[in-house]
Formats: sequence, C-alpha cells, structure tokens
Amino acid sequence: MASKSLIEQAKQACAYAAVDNELKSDAKVVGIGSGTTVVYVVERISQRTDLKDTIYIPTGFQSKQLILQYGLRVGNIDEISSIDITFDGADEIEPSLNCIKGGGACLFQEKLIASMSKRFILVADDRKDSEILGSRWKQGVPIEVSPYAYLKVINDLIALGCQNPLLRMGAPAKAGPAVTDNGFFIIDADFGIIKDVVKLEAQIKALVGVLDVGLFPGMAEKAYLGMSDGTTKTLL
Ligand code: 5RP
Repeated sequence: MASKSLIEQAKQACAYAAVDNELKSDAKVVGIGSGTTVVYVVERISQRTDLKDTIYIPTGFQSKQLILQYGLRVGNIDEISSIDITFDGADEIEPSLNCIKGGGACLFQEKLIASMSKRFILVADDRKDSEILGSRWKQGVPIEVSPYAYLKVINDLIALGCQNPLLRMGAPAKAGPAVTDNGFFIIDADFGIIKDVVKLEAQIKALVGVLDVGLFPGMAEKAYLGMSDGTTKTLL
C-alpha cells in the first residue's frame, strides 16, 4: 500500500490529536466541518466506542456524506439549539486564532455551526499557520453572494479596496460559476494583508447581496496544527 504524503500525515496527526484531547464521552451534539482534514476527524471519531448516543451536524453535502460513510448519526439542525463541540478545517490561521475559511465553498454553514457551538476547534496542516491573515492564503477571502447581486458586490468590494475580486468558477470552468450548497456564488476577494479582521468582516457582511464572508474572527477556542515531522502544535 502506498504510504501517505507528509501533508496527509500532518492532517491526520492534527485531526487525531484534536479528537483524542477534546472530544469527551458526554458530547451529545458534535459539529463536523468541511474539507480534507476533517475526513481524519470523522475517521478517528468512528474508532471510538464511547459515543453511541452522539449525533453529528454537517456543514454541507460533503460533510453529511462523510458522517454517513463512517456509520455515524446525522443530526438535523432544525431540531437542536446548541452544539457541544465542532471540529473544522481552515485555510489560514493567525496566532490569535482568527482565520480564513471557505476554500471549499461551505463558509456560511460553517459559520452558522461555529456560532451555535460551545467550543469551536480548528484542525489544519502547518501550511495554514500564519503570522497575519492574508500573508499565506493567496486565493483571497471567500465571500458567498446571491447570483442576482454578484456584479454589484464585485463593484462594492473594489470600492472597499480589493484590487481584483474574482468570481469563482466551477470545475470545469466552462460549466460556469461554482455554486454553493445554498445555490449562491463565491467571490474570492484579495485584500492583501488583513490588519483589522473584525472591521473587514463587518464591512463585507454589510454589503447587500452577501450571505456571509469567510473571515472568522474570535470564534475558535483552539487550533491543532499538524507539522510535516508528524508532531502537532496547539494554538490557544
Ligand atoms: C471549506 C473550508 C475548509 O475547512 C478549508 O478550506 C480547509 O480545507 P482542507 O482541510 O481541505 O485544507 O473552509 O469551506
């Protein structure tokens, strides 16, 4: 069997450490984020025998399929008012735990689930470890917008100082724009180095046509970063 790449080993190491250290037997409702690192979170949870009554709230289609694939119980967001703990990936994390998310286009559900969670734990490989947001993730800040309003929002973002906001295309690009689970589009907006994350998040959210923005200031309690040497670094 082919051995895992260093990146995959780093993802697995941080995800396993996060589950082992943070997921207690009394957790009744657990949020599951999106992306490739979270796959290892669910893999590790599926190895536990002490979580028989736990339900798992997905942050999108991929996340729901993952929960089902590992034989765990999918919970319905319409039936719960709070979540004990959520594990999610990130695209860039700074030392204060502010982060950029939405590389996988699930940012609205991810922020919703994070906002309902008593504890929000990030898992990421060390490529996401950053001194200041905007210095490592070069794709820009993901923003979920109504298809009806995308051009208006692009112009608003230029007025806010973004040089080149881009409408994210699907795969293949000729099929048109990427469409989120909510039927919305994604604009990737590069603001360079982001010195005031709280202000920028508020400015973008205030634009008519924006559902949400992939800036998550002050939401995470802890981040587990998988290093390429197989160790894990924790940010608090
Ligand atoms: C999806 C996300 C993901 O959590 C983020 O893109 C990280 O993904 P990965 O673990 O694959 O690097 O925000 O919207």
